[in-house]
Amino acid sequence: MQNLLITGGCGFIGSNFVRFMLGRDDFTGRIINVDCLTYAANPKSLTDIENDFPDRYVFIRADICDGPQMAEIFDRYGVDAICHFAAESHVDRSIVDPGAFIQTNIVGTFNLLELARFHPDRLTLFHHVSTDEVFGSLSAEGYFTETTAYRPNSPYAASKAASDHLVRAYHKTYGLPITISNCSNNYGPYQFPEKLIPLIILNALEGKALPVYGDGKNVRDWLYVTDHCDAIWKIMRDGQRGATYNIGGNTEKPNIEVVETICDILDETAADKDIGPRRELIDFVTDRPGHDRRYAIDATKLKRELGWVPAESFETGIRNTIAWYLDNMQWVQRVQSGEYQTWIKQHYG
Ligand code: NAD
Ligand code: DAU
Repeated sequence: MQNLLITGGCGFIGSNFVRFMLGRDDFTGRIINVDCLTYAANPKSLTDIENDFPDRYVFIRADICDGPQMAEIFDRYGVDAICHFAAESHVDRSIVDPGAFIQTNIVGTFNLLELARFHPDRLTLFHHVSTDEVFGSLSAEGYFTETTAYRPNSPYAASKAASDHLVRAYHKTYGLPITISNCSNNYGPYQFPEKLIPLIILNALEGKALPVYGDGKNVRDWLYVTDHCDAIWKIMRDGQRGATYNIGGNTEKPNIEVVETICDILDETAADKDIGPRRELIDFVTDRPGHDRRYAIDATKLKRELGWVPAESFETGIRNTIAWYLDNMQWVQRVQSGEYQTWIKQHYG
């Protein structure tokens, strides 16, 4: 993998992955980061990387749905491997406006697969980054494994399920060297503050209401983002071609517990007498339509075959995450004010 195309590298997990890869000794290649810079992208999250790795990191603003432009990039940079993150990723947005999810997550993935199909001599791997949401919802018992049937419930989950099926089909039909990973909820630095953890951190910091959907007892399995990056790289390097791997933190928590933990840590580290105990800011609001009750991943296959286990516990990971947001208020302010969007318009039109 000397010319690795990363799609969606200006988003939350993609930008962490770029940083992770360029800090490793066992990857010596170049990263070509293609991102169309939607509202969720923060091009300045990688400014230091651009400066530190001028020969090994290239950013190109492009839409994965634009076949001719992607083909031109593919040839110009001699792409020999793809790690595909680019997606519309927020469930609530998919409920309000599913169109962009169908376009990017399904049509965009199809475009990349077509490119890969016509470069069989050059492409060594197409890794597809997917989600545990494709499996639907669990009751109080059981875990998602790699053989769990797909039962996606939101437009987002259905669009990711469709893309997973396409990737698998291109392996079976055309022999494309693929791997797929289905991961649980990530948290950590650079996450756009529409997702639960950064939203709660920032609202709690300012003494704003903390919206908790329904009864707050929906369960998610939280994984620190660099553990996800590590798992993806292990799969890309040593995973069986054609295989799917589940990735999860074995850290199931009801949402209300996550929110209360953030409140307590902020009371301890950023006490504010005008705000008072932050648990009092919790506001139970109308539930998300079709809200999946519980996700929980069985990551035994990844541990058995590739020796992956997460390094970060929730207790340390959530403290690191809160500390990162407190230390990076300029990033937060730029994201919240839309300043990045103005910057993108000035630079790219
Ligand atoms: P994100 O929304 O933070 O970032 C997505 C990135 O993709 C953005 O930079 C955006 O500009 C880019 N993008 C969107 N449409 C594009 C297009 N048409 N062309 C080029 N770029 C485009 O998302 P994330 O949370 O970093 O998720 C990344 C991937 O990981 C997604 O595929 C998601 O389904 C998957 N995933 C996320 C989680 C999670 O908890 N966040 C868990 C499992 C899997
Ligand atoms: O499971 C993996 C998925 O995790 C990824 O595929 C998605 O891209 C990612 O967004 C995430 O989806 P969720 O819907 O689980 O994440 P979100 O942070 O939006 O919500 C987490 C839980 O918190 C969920 O049960 C809904 C609830 N929630 C969310 C928000 C934004 C609230 O109670 N209040 C909120 O304000």
